[in-house]
Amino acid sequence: MSGPNTSYDPVQVAPLHAEQVEAMVAEALAAFAAATSVAELKEARLAHAAERSPIALANREIGALPPQARKDAGARIGKARGQIGAALKAREAEVSAAELERALVEERVDVTLPLQPHPVGAVHPITGLMALVEDVFVGMGWEVAEGPELEAEWLNFDALNFVPDHPARTLQDTLFVEPADGGLVLRTHTSPVQARTMLHREPPIYVICPGKVYRADEYDATHVPVFHQFEGLVVDRGITLGHLRGTLDHFARAMFGDTRTRIRPHYFPFTEPSAEVDLQCFVCHGDSVGNPDRPCRTCKSEGWIEWGGCGVVNPRVLQACGIDSDVYSGFAFGMGVERTLMFRNDAADMRDMIEGDVRFSRSLVGVAR
Ligand code: DAH
Repeated sequence: MSGPNTSYDPVQVAPLHAEQVEAMVAEALAAFAAATSVAELKEARLAHAAERSPIALANREIGALPPQARKDAGARIGKARGQIGAALKAREAEVSAAELERALVEERVDVTLPLQPHPVGAVHPITGLMALVEDVFVGMGWEVAEGPELEAEWLNFDALNFVPDHPARTLQDTLFVEPADGGLVLRTHTSPVQARTMLHREPPIYVICPGKVYRADEYDATHVPVFHQFEGLVVDRGITLGHLRGTLDHFARAMFGDTRTRIRPHYFPFTEPSAEVDLQCFVCHGDSVGNPDRPCRTCKSEGWIEWGGCGVVNPRVLQACGIDSDVYSGFAFGMGVERTLMFRNDAADMRDMIEGDVRFSRSLVGVAR
């Protein structure tokens, strides 16, 4: 049996040669220096400092050396591993700092740049204004009532006391729906909602009725064939023209600020007495009248602006809708939404309200949302 190999020469174990070890260190250091990213450095670490790297394999060889040779080789390898480890750590710090620096530059966000969001739409000013009107009346405890746009001729005209040959009933004003004798029209005003409400509810009635109406009209700056109105109706005990006046003044101030209304005698079949409502010009308050030095665009220096119609509900209408006109009385009023928007927001051309340019919608203060 042969004994331990006492003549073992560590110099013969190639990976433990001093030059070899120095070369491993030099290669590792060069690889670390060449790595410029965390990923590259990881590869260099696996190649030169991990379990299967030449220096780690050399370290394993130490155990095979005779005891007298181990110390020397161990010190050499230990020193080399220390150098490699320190170089790796230093390079890791450099590379990750550089990478952070690069990310800060490349991913820099200038939070002061103007935002370019996707263009969003806007609430149409007619819709916005109708909501505003509803809010004013709901705030006084009124209810919102609606009716159909395709309306019975009877409700649009007869129930409202229009005589059979009233000019409003002609084809010139009214859009009849085929068949011609079918008794259906595109409602020409929101007043039929008055009749519908009285037919379906018991007094006291306090309703505001916004909606779309149709007339065989021209299409120009002040006329459109499809437009909007709101109708107010009150039926209760002891209702007088005074209640109407107070309501209109309150409504006008809620819509236009510092202003008031006046009424002028007029004729509507469904109210008696009837009147037209004028709005005191909320821009010049009448100061432009007879004062050429201070002309007013809003009222054309007339001091008042025609706003809509109103009156005390005709007892015939109450009776047609099954309400006892000896017990109850009421008032009604009706205005055009487009017209109201024109005064309120200085919108000169009704066609802007039809054409759907979002810039127009956004420009109207207080009604655009
Ligand atoms: N319906 C009328 C129109 O379209 C407006 C109107 C006038 C409504 C007088 C009313 C009213 O309620 O009392 O011209």
